[in-house]
Amino acid sequence: LPSKCYLLLALGIVAIGLVSCQPTSSAVAPARSDGVTGDPKHGEELFRKRCSSCHSLDKEKEGPMLRGVFGRKSASVPNFKYSDAMRAASIIWDGDSLDKWLTDTDRFIPDNDMNSTFKKADERADIIAYLQQLSHQ
Ligand code: HEC
Repeated sequence: LPSKCYLLLALGIVAIGLVSCQPTSSAVAPARSDGVTGDPKHGEELFRKRCSSCHSLDKEKEGPMLRGVFGRKSASVPNFKYSDAMRAASIIWDGDSLDKWLTDTDRFIPDNDMNSTFKKADERADIIAYLQQLSHQ
């Protein structure tokens, strides 16, 4: 074979190598349309550690029950004694509003009764994903 052919052959092998090294699309997590990106399993664990002292899923404690809170209007658990600030807020709890609330409750709704902040964005995302999953059960 003329040496030109060996060169082409070598280029061909390199090209095949490059193509087969591309990550397959199944290795990439599918984008979710609702913008919630957290890990609900880890969120459940965080919920137990960081929220369950004041919140249960199905009964009132110091805070209102939280099952189904994702997609719910703020201050809508009957009989729970919300603060006046919370009653006046009129928010739909979605990924965006929950993230703002958990980042700094007082900044989002001044004079509310939940004095907690959750500084880590990835932990907030995981907790929010968990709350969202509960709403779909
Ligand atoms: C120290 C107690 C306490 C902790 C810890 C706490 N909360 Fe709360 N939470 C409250 C109280 C009290 C309210 C009611 C606030 C009001 O009426 O102003 C509330 C309200 C809420 C609401 C609004 C519910 C509604 O029906 O409108 C959400 C959502 C919420 N909390 C989520 C969380 C999450 C998620 C965590 C953990 C990351 C958490 N909270 C940790 C006490 C707490």
